[in-house]
Amino acid sequence: MTTREALARQLTSARERTLRLVELDDAELVRQYDPLMSPLVWDLAHIGWQEELWLLRGNDARRPGLLEPAVERLYDAFEHSRASRVHLPLLPPTDARSFVRTVRAKSLDALEALPDDDGTGVDPAFVFGMVVSHENQHDETMLQALSIRTGPPILGRGAPLPPGRPGVAGTSVLVPGGPFVLGVTAAEEPMSLDNERDAHVVDVASFRIGRVPVTNGEWRDFVDDGGYREPRWWSDAGWAHRRQADLTAPKFWTEAGTRTRFGYVEDIPADEPVQHVTFFEAEAYAAWAGARLPTEMEWEKACAWDPVRGTRRRFPWGTSEPSSALVNMGGEALRPAPVGAYPAGASAYGAEQMLGDVWEWTTSPLRPWPGFTPMLYEQYSSPFFEGSGAGDYRVLRGGAWSVAPDIVRPSFRNWDHPIRRQIFSGVRLAWDA
Ligand SMILES: [Fe+2]
Repeated sequence: MTTREALARQLTSARERTLRLVELDDAELVRQYDPLMSPLVWDLAHIGWQEELWLLRGNDARRPGLLEPAVERLYDAFEHSRASRVHLPLLPPTDARSFVRTVRAKSLDALEALPDDDGTGVDPAFVFGMVVSHENQHDETMLQALSIRTGPPILGRGAPLPPGRPGVAGTSVLVPGGPFVLGVTAAEEPMSLDNERDAHVVDVASFRIGRVPVTNGEWRDFVDDGGYREPRWWSDAGWAHRRQADLTAPKFWTEAGTRTRFGYVEDIPADEPVQHVTFFEAEAYAAWAGARLPTEMEWEKACAWDPVRGTRRRFPWGTSEPSSALVNMGGEALRPAPVGAYPAGASAYGAEQMLGDVWEWTTSPLRPWPGFTPMLYEQYSSPFFEGSGAGDYRVLRGGAWSVAPDIVRPSFRNWDHPIRRQIFSGVRLAWDA
């Protein structure tokens, strides 16, 4: 498949996914489920607006677009907080749908007319990859909104998943110390985003890392042992937040020992990775368990490094494209897979489910790799780097069940505030070795 064909397929698959998520009544689309989330109709038109700006207007907002200037400003994520978007005079759902459809038709024409790489070092296909990434990332955001939504369920219970394996929860694998290559080059991963570049050698001391993420069953023991009542397991900031937000269990767990998931009330599967926990909870759990959280360097080494060949693997398991036999991604499952479900997806060190299932909190603040150069979407990373004044972000790795396989690599970096847990966040433990 040529790059052009691959991008056309990825654009189409992202759009099919977006349209499935907004296959709802207009009243649902304009609702704000939570101040943390935008109304779905905002995400829809925002996807189209960014696509038009990047692909059709050369990232120059002074060039005329399909929307009136006053209207398009409603979709600038840096101008309007999520909490405020429900009060904006947004395009009605019908207009938003027709806007994104028109933009997409033009984008596909532009892709058809795309020049081949002319050797100038500027990959003309990259911006299409960025658009694919952006749309899929918003699809995940819309899934967060739908998971926080109250009322009778409007999505199904999710696609079937493979069974887990007993005996893997709570076990760990050794990652011997030594240098490895962190990050990727544009040549090896042309669609990697700015903060994943450039590849550089980092030395990491020996450590152990969880073979699989922490499960609901293990987290239940932490709750039952009084973990949420014992300040000694928590950092000062974490304890202050726990008290202020009155956290007593992961988000969506109920007093009755059940959980709600996309509107369904169900038993909490003991062997499924825990999700919807803050960084602060993850840190406290790790302390209680006699462990710690990994750094993102440790995480990436455990995921991608092949110590026998002394090279990175494209995916934890090797070079084959992600499939339902290897990883739970794509958003159809609406939940993580039980631990041990993907032995064939193990990394060289034997760590499983590094990609998919749950985003995994690391101790690392978001920092640029050496030689960082912002991409066309200049505000993607830089405003969130440590020291930029934007906040106390922590990096999450791996991608959850909600992430499209087209956009995630072992080098992919996500970040959020340490108090956030409407995201599909979980925990993998680490230990000094
Ligand atoms: Fe966006």
